[in-house]
Amino acid sequence: MVREVSIRPMTVRDLDQCWELDQRCFADGETYDRDTLHYLLTNPLVIARKIELPDRRMVGFVIGSIESGGVGHVIALGVDPQWRRRGFGRLLMEAIEDAFCEHGATIARLEVRADNHAAQALYEKLGYTVTQRLPRYYTNGEDALLMTKPLPTSPSDDWI
Ligand SMILES: CC(C)(COP(=O)(O)OP(=O)(O)OC[C@H]1O[C@@H](n2cnc3c(N)ncnc32)[C@H](O)[C@@H]1OP(=O)(O)O)[C@@H](O)C(=O)NCCC(=O)NCCS
Repeated sequence: MVREVSIRPMTVRDLDQCWELDQRCFADGETYDRDTLHYLLTNPLVIARKIELPDRRMVGFVIGSIESGGVGHVIALGVDPQWRRRGFGRLLMEAIEDAFCEHGATIARLEVRADNHAAQALYEKLGYTVTQRLPRYYTNGEDALLMTKPLPTSPSDDWI
């Protein structure tokens, strides 16, 4: 774990770095195009966080949205391939869950490729469970797993 990293809000000013990092994190066909990232980073219902090294280089990001019914939806999570297994994915997920809670969400949900065992291992470690299989969810025909996690409804829940 690199101690000097910081987690900050990611804004549309980070668009180019986010787009470049997204392309290195995801395989062809799974990346977001620049217009979609621009749309997300300018949408008031979207929450985005980035993790930065001391030299301000972005090495990971997470994007989520607040949906009706108190649902926080994790849309994208990526960590630079050279900076994986240092706890950054976990830190980003914890940051977006905190933000979901601050916006009143009571459940977090996400979709993950059925064969993405690395991400599934991270999510399971964080308390997510598979609630549904979504056949042919991705454009290349692959299935997704829907994973959900109840969120604490108030900070005091952490102490019960
Ligand atoms: C999934 C991803 C975000 C994880 O980021 P990361 O910074 O490496 O994750 P962390 O270091 O916080 O890992 C926390 C725990 O998750 C699990 N985990 C993470 N990567 C794993 C892997 N490749 N294999 C097995 N378990 C893994 C481990 O339990 C790990 O704890 P440990 O390192 O103490 O064993 C990263 O691999 C990534 O960007 N992948 C490509 C994009 C992607 O798949 N995003 C998710 C789409 S739904």
